[in-house]
Amino acid sequence: MISKIKRIDRVVILTGAGISAESGIQTFRASDGLWENHRIEDVATPSAWERDPRLVWEFYQGRRRQLLEVDPNPAHDALVELEQHLDEFLLVTQNVDDLHSRAGSRELIHMHGELRKLRCEECGDVIVAMGEEDLKEEYVACTNCRNERLRPHIVWFHEMPLRMRDIDIAVADCDIFIAIGTSGHVYPAAGLLSVASSCGAHCIGINLDPPQNVGLFDEFHQGKAGEILPGLVSQWIATEDDE
Ligand code: APR
Repeated sequence: MISKIKRIDRVVILTGAGISAESGIQTFRASDGLWENHRIEDVATPSAWERDPRLVWEFYQGRRRQLLEVDPNPAHDALVELEQHLDEFLLVTQNVDDLHSRAGSRELIHMHGELRKLRCEECGDVIVAMGEEDLKEEYVACTNCRNERLRPHIVWFHEMPLRMRDIDIAVADCDIFIAIGTSGHVYPAAGLLSVASSCGAHCIGINLDPPQNVGLFDEFHQGKAGEILPGLVSQWIATEDDE
């Protein structure tokens, strides 16, 4: 078991939907999860957007509006505290909510995109669009070109996650890799654990249920992230401060 994280340790964190569950955002694969009520191929693929943009748009507008009703929880806050104690830190999130940045995380990659943003498929413009007008049923038009319909800035199934090169380099180089609240079903995110492990990092998992790749962790803490992460972080940091 790791007892401390030193300031010079290079730490990479991977988070998934579980870290935002205690803020009131549904996870994907639970019995009451998002993918129980919506078919992925209807709302989260490029072909769904081509076939039925209205359905896709309504699905994401609902999720975008929900951001106004939720707040970061103690697990998001604990990662901010950890970042402040380290020289080299990277938080990679699969989540498309904005709770890490609202909590105050700085070195952050949203590998699956961001609900706050919309993107123009014609000119490539990406904008933050969270005003009242942007959250209605109507499509939002591009202000840069003539496209009448911006798409959610979300990485759909069959699309490439964002900034994979930066992520791969950080993971291959890290001393400590910590995965929190992710079921380990979706690649390439799910493969980062085995890369970290084979490159010699100490790998820690924190999850409500053991994820499918649990055997690769050097240590695994089972429970709710909001309940156990703050204690773990203070323990890791306090031990160094006491030296
Ligand atoms: N604390 C810690 N873990 C939790 C909590 C909690 N409070 N609540 C749930 N979990 C765990 C669940 O046990 C589960 O293993 O979080 C995990 C959530 O798994 P998924 O719903 O599969 O979410 P995630 O791993 O983030 O999904 C990956 O799949 O659909 C795509 O693009 C979507 O980014 C998403 C990706």
